[in-house]
Amino acid sequence: MGSPQDDAYRLLNEYSNGFMVSQVLFAACELGVFDLLAQAPGPLDSAAAASRLGCSPHGTELLLDTCAALKLLKVEVRGGRAFYRNSELSSTYLASGSPTCQRNMLLYMARTTYRCWAHLAEAVREGKNRYLQVFGVPSEELFSAIYRSDAERLRFTRGLQEVWSVAGRSVLAAFDLSPFPLVCDLGGGSGALARECASLYPGCQVTVFDIPEVVRAAREHGAFPAEGRVGFREGGGLLVVESLLDEDGRGPLTTQLYSLNMLVQTEGRERTPSQYRALLASAGFHGFQFKKTGGIYDAILARN
Ligand SMILES: C[S@@+](CC[C@H](N)C(=O)[O-])C[C@H]1O[C@@H](n2cnc3c(N)ncnc32)[C@H](O)[C@@H]1O
Repeated sequence: MGSPQDDAYRLLNEYSNGFMVSQVLFAACELGVFDLLAQAPGPLDSAAAASRLGCSPHGTELLLDTCAALKLLKVEVRGGRAFYRNSELSSTYLASGSPTCQRNMLLYMARTTYRCWAHLAEAVREGKNRYLQVFGVPSEELFSAIYRSDAERLRFTRGLQEVWSVAGRSVLAAFDLSPFPLVCDLGGGSGALARECASLYPGCQVTVFDIPEVVRAAREHGAFPAEGRVGFREGGGLLVVESLLDEDGRGPLTTQLYSLNMLVQTEGRERTPSQYRALLASAGFHGFQFKKTGGIYDAILARN
């Protein structure tokens, strides 16, 4: 017999309310809460935060207290008034001044990913995404949600830069790439992973390849991709950086969610090691190895 104290009922509520937690995080980023508190000379009360953010006092107080409950903010009470400051998590990952800030990725998730996920049931039913309905762009175009405007493309590229500021080293150090003097990062965006590669393997010459619009934007915003064609010579290798599914496809949960994320955004999917092995073998690669990094992204190395 079910009861409100049941673990199952508690879990059900945790899952159904999960999107609210994401929205608190997204809204606080969007409104600039973490930057305000990082730049303030000391902790602020909700009235001061509301006036500096240009937000309602009531809404701000609710948001700040919920952020505190989520360990995104620290709160101390003085003279009956609550004062808020960033927690360690927010100082490290949410304040713009931090070298590991993930703000662009979170804003991308709020403005693109979240909106695509609102159509998950249709995507599962039809095996297709719903760009046309969500963003007014035709679904035939790959990346049309992500690249629907220059601003969103730049946001996505910057978001990936932020991801690699945290996860880049572990995927590039998963295998010793020093025997490869020439490295080409295909679809390398702004060159964030390429820069990490050049710093980890100073003997390598690294070149980034991407589509013309991305190359143009990256040049305008201070990065360095080059256009061209990639050819694999004898003795070459291919490093694939992806989130690996378990062999039976039933875990880890984050990778399963990423697979659904690929469905709603690009009609793609994440893969198991065997599926990558088959894909790479069909393209003439062998000597397949993979390493789980312990982070979200794993590494696969194959030779030709
Ligand atoms: C998911 S993003 C990854 C970007 C980058 N590797 C990173 O992790 O930061 C995929 C990239 O592939 C690029 N891309 C898509 N089609 C491409 C093509 N035909 N040739 C080169 N790059 C392409 C996209 O523009 C985008 O920058």
